[in-house]
Amino acid sequence: MLAVAILAAGKGTRMKSDLPKVVHELGGRSLVKRVLDAATALSPKRRLIIVGYGQALVREALAAEPGLEFVEQAEQLGTGHAIQQLLEPLQGFTGDLVVLTGDTPLLTTQTIADLVATHRDRHAAATVLTALLPDPTGYGRVFCDRNNQIECIIEHRDCTDAQRQNQRVSAGVYCFKWPELAEILPKLSNNNDQKEYYLTEVFNYLSPVFAQDVEDYEESFGINSRVQLAHAYEVLQSRIRDKWMRLGVTMNLPDTITIDDTVELEPNVIIEPQTHLRGYTKIKSGSVIGPGSLIENSTIAENCRVLYATVEDSQIGAGCRVGPYTHISKESIVGDRCRVGNFVELKKTRMGENTNAAHLSYLGDATLGNRVNIGAGTVTANYDGFNKHPTVIGDRSKTGANSVLVAPIQIGKNVNIASGSVVTTNVEDNALAIARARETIKPDYYDEDGRKKVK
Ligand code: UD1
Ligand code: CA
Repeated sequence: MLAVAILAAGKGTRMKSDLPKVVHELGGRSLVKRVLDAATALSPKRRLIIVGYGQALVREALAAEPGLEFVEQAEQLGTGHAIQQLLEPLQGFTGDLVVLTGDTPLLTTQTIADLVATHRDRHAAATVLTALLPDPTGYGRVFCDRNNQIECIIEHRDCTDAQRQNQRVSAGVYCFKWPELAEILPKLSNNNDQKEYYLTEVFNYLSPVFAQDVEDYEESFGINSRVQLAHAYEVLQSRIRDKWMRLGVTMNLPDTITIDDTVELEPNVIIEPQTHLRGYTKIKSGSVIGPGSLIENSTIAENCRVLYATVEDSQIGAGCRVGPYTHISKESIVGDRCRVGNFVELKKTRMGENTNAAHLSYLGDATLGNRVNIGAGTVTANYDGFNKHPTVIGDRSKTGANSVLVAPIQIGKNVNIASGSVVTTNVEDNALAIARARETIKPDYYDEDGRKKVK
């Protein structure tokens, strides 16, 4: 039987933050949620989250997750003290306990699973995930005997200079036989530089304890500062990009591209520089996104071209050309083979198929049919200061340049709106609508020097 406990009670002083450290986000998910998700994939019987500092925010960050047991550590007296809080909830539990720290968001499920498997194979009292770090500063150093059995773990600040040369660190990830750990826990002291009860002290008593090196040392990164948070984001991004490139996505200048791990891409997508794909976004085969685009919680169908555009919570049909400088948002739906071009904003707007709005337009709360052509500078006046109102434009209708459609309004099919018109009433099918003053031309008005002639 397996239980997992995640340490999430500390403040995270080194973050210099108003938030508890573990609720800081990394690529759209909090640190603690990432750790929890990695652990949940193992289907443990119980999941205990140790909370304390800013616990309302930590609980909130995990609120969507059913079946968690929150355990309060009222005062944060160290990682050992945190695990002591499990003595009561885990009373009578006879299985293995995996302990994770809420600040190691790069840890993978596979690594935890491997740790548990070797722990069980070797009948160890405890198994510690270790890593050989090029720069081990700040981590607890792991000292082993010849058989890879851990003799002790000494925190960086408690190490002598010679001990600090040891690059083998504890990742703060452990598997314990809970009954044996439970016996030791009450013995912990706080005899160290920080006067804290360290969980690592239990390795002075437990035996045998094995070290297991993680294959990819980046998984062991603990986030203690914003610099480390930024570094973790780089690691996460390069993991995600590598995965998609292996699956057939082309990326030009990948270091300038960011992709959330919730995004789905099809083979033969091309991502150009300075492009950011966020949330539940899907890009289908043959589409070229970027340079300079932000796509969030949106679907882009096949063979689209999206250039310098922002698309949020919307769907773009196949074969569309979007951008440059286009903003599509609020559940807009664009049909196949549309053009949404230069400086065009669509908000809560539906477009049929083969419909174009190529230049300088605002279309809000609008429903456009098929083969509609929106002239440059067309605006839907959808807001009266209190409420938003809809605009409907039928198939094959055209709006002239600089026309304003004052909503609520219905424009029928095959209508032509003369340029410069402000239209306030519904227009029936096949009509021409002109709403502007007729121009006056005054011939022979100026003399050759540009002076008004006196008549
Ligand atoms: C800890 C380990 C260190 C290891 C490193 C790996 C100890 C004493 N040190 O150091 O050996 O190399 O992680 O990243 O265990 N927390 C509580 N209650 C407390 C104190 C901390 O829940 O009273 C939580 C924190 O919220 C955090 C985690 O425990 O999620 C680790 O605490 P942190 O202060 O970051 O420990 P490190 O100094 O990084
Ligand atoms: Ca840490």
